[in-house]
Amino acid sequence: MSDVEALRKELAAAIDAAAGLDELEQIRVSALGKKGRITELMKGLGAMDADARKATGQALNALKSEIAQALEAKKSSFADAELNARLVGETVDVTLPARPEAEGRIHPISQTIDEVVAIFGEMGLSVAEGPDIEDDWHNFTALNIPPDHPARQEHDTFYLPGAGEEDRMVLRTHTSPVQIRTMMAGEPPFRMIVPGRTYRCDYDATHSPMFHQVEALVVDENTHMGHLKGCLIDFCRAFFDVDDLPVRFRPSYFPFTEPSAEVDIGCVRKDGEFRIGHGDDWLEILGCGMVNPKVLENCNIDSTKYQGFAFGIGIERLAMLKYGIPDLRTFYESDLRWLRHYGFSALSAPSMVGGL
Ligand code: PHE
Repeated sequence: MSDVEALRKELAAAIDAAAGLDELEQIRVSALGKKGRITELMKGLGAMDADARKATGQALNALKSEIAQALEAKKSSFADAELNARLVGETVDVTLPARPEAEGRIHPISQTIDEVVAIFGEMGLSVAEGPDIEDDWHNFTALNIPPDHPARQEHDTFYLPGAGEEDRMVLRTHTSPVQIRTMMAGEPPFRMIVPGRTYRCDYDATHSPMFHQVEALVVDENTHMGHLKGCLIDFCRAFFDVDDLPVRFRPSYFPFTEPSAEVDIGCVRKDGEFRIGHGDDWLEILGCGMVNPKVLENCNIDSTKYQGFAFGIGIERLAMLKYGIPDLRTFYESDLRWLRHYGFSALSAPSMVGGL
């Protein structure tokens, strides 16, 4: 048997018996590497006569490619084996039933926001958002609340440390700055609703330093107070699910609306009982008004051509009234028992068609 044939048998047996990738690599280096045995045999070709050189050269080239192929084949068989072992190890029994503990609840704040958005969405308003950290101009000045205006004190503002009086940042005290952002960013008409977090330095059973509002802004050429009233009366009746719920508009004042009103709904307070609906009492639930022309002008909108209305609703207050939650602070305590009691099923999204 020739040297080449003997080497072929030896290498083939070694590759066949190799136990892993490292061993294969050693075989490759020892056969095909710079000082490998096939390489060494190749170097001997120069000393041979022409016929022997041709025959041995051909045999060595054939051996070289045969060994390279055998190494590759063995290598991929290792990869296949590894993949198969992983697939067996990671088998999932898809016929197992769902885990019983998967029962998260929707927080009443999220539920209330979803309900409000569903009602106004049906009326054609779309959702917009703005930043929680605002500059003084968007939160106050552009809304016609100049630097010395008393409303600034009433807002109990959280100011951020840093910049001077004029350009300091604030945690927004209401969602109204998003009115400004919307009007600055586009062209009328506008029809939008803005749910979001708001911040005021106040804390008791009905106030929290962080709370939620939903703002609405509608601006068009013929928008008038009748639209505002119809929109809010329909909203109150749909939200509290009382078809003939009394709704009252009481004159009020906000710097950014003119005229301004607060909206009350009818309720019953008798012998410790509280119920929303027909009764001899009223309960305030939101602030609203026609957008002050100064605010439109601050946003470069022609107030002789366009008019609008806006309102802001406190979400926690709506949720407390509708779902009988007595203390606002409990909303943020992350108490699981509370959430199981007051929370909502994750699988029933509120809608005007499917119900709120
Ligand atoms: N931004 C007012 C508040 O927080 C509510 C409001 C919004 C009133 C829009 C009128 C119009 O009290």
